[in-house]
Amino acid sequence: MKFALRNATSADLPALLDIHNDAVRTLKAIWTDKLDTLEDRRAWFDARKDAGLPVIVAETEDGTVAGYGSFGPFRAKEGYRLTMEHSIYVAPEARGKGIGKALLVRLIDMARADGYHVLVGAIDGENTASIALHRQLGFEITGRMPQVGIKFGQWLDLVLMTLVLDERPAPTGK
Ligand SMILES: CC(C)(COP(=O)(O)OP(=O)(O)OC[C@H]1O[C@@H](n2cnc3c(N)ncnc32)[C@H](O)[C@@H]1OP(=O)(O)O)[C@@H](O)C(=O)NCCC(=O)NCCS
Repeated sequence: MKFALRNATSADLPALLDIHNDAVRTLKAIWTDKLDTLEDRRAWFDARKDAGLPVIVAETEDGTVAGYGSFGPFRAKEGYRLTMEHSIYVAPEARGKGIGKALLVRLIDMARADGYHVLVGAIDGENTASIALHRQLGFEITGRMPQVGIKFGQWLDLVLMTLVLDERPAPTGK
């Protein structure tokens, strides 16, 4: 499948909404049953854009948005300011064709270029595809939190995978 990566625009929001809500309905990758509205997605997109944070999409030859990725602050306190948490979602019919990997490679490049130090993926412990993808790109499992989530009548384990993006010394001062 041929596809190209580009920055998302507000015209992509209906496609992002479909991919997000399909994941909410069918997967243990997002730990909520609450479907988003277009306005919810717009608020999320605008907040990322206003903060200078990336939202990227993979567009196939026929113009379909087949996946997206983004990153944002891992935790709010300022000591975490160089650590970002990313997410990647690929539409069901487009999975297994290299799109997730391309999105994650691009997000890693963008995080490095933007001067961040660590990327974190917070992944359902049974999501073997996502764990394998992250391992392939150099992420290590650095945390496993048993039974911290619930969905579809099951306890869910959270696996944290991290990638240190550069070897700089810790900033002085704060
Ligand atoms: C996880 C996800 C992002 C992977 O994207 P994808 O486009 O399907 O994956 P790719 O085709 O780019 O595959 C890249 C690597 O992922 C791994 N992978 C992908 N699908 C896999 C599967 N079904 N089983 C095991 N490993 C798999 C492999 O290591 C693969 O590398 P390879 O092709 O060299 O074997 C995608 O399947 C997805 O959106 N799933 C649902 C939502 C989700 O889980 N998001 C991640 C939340 S942390």
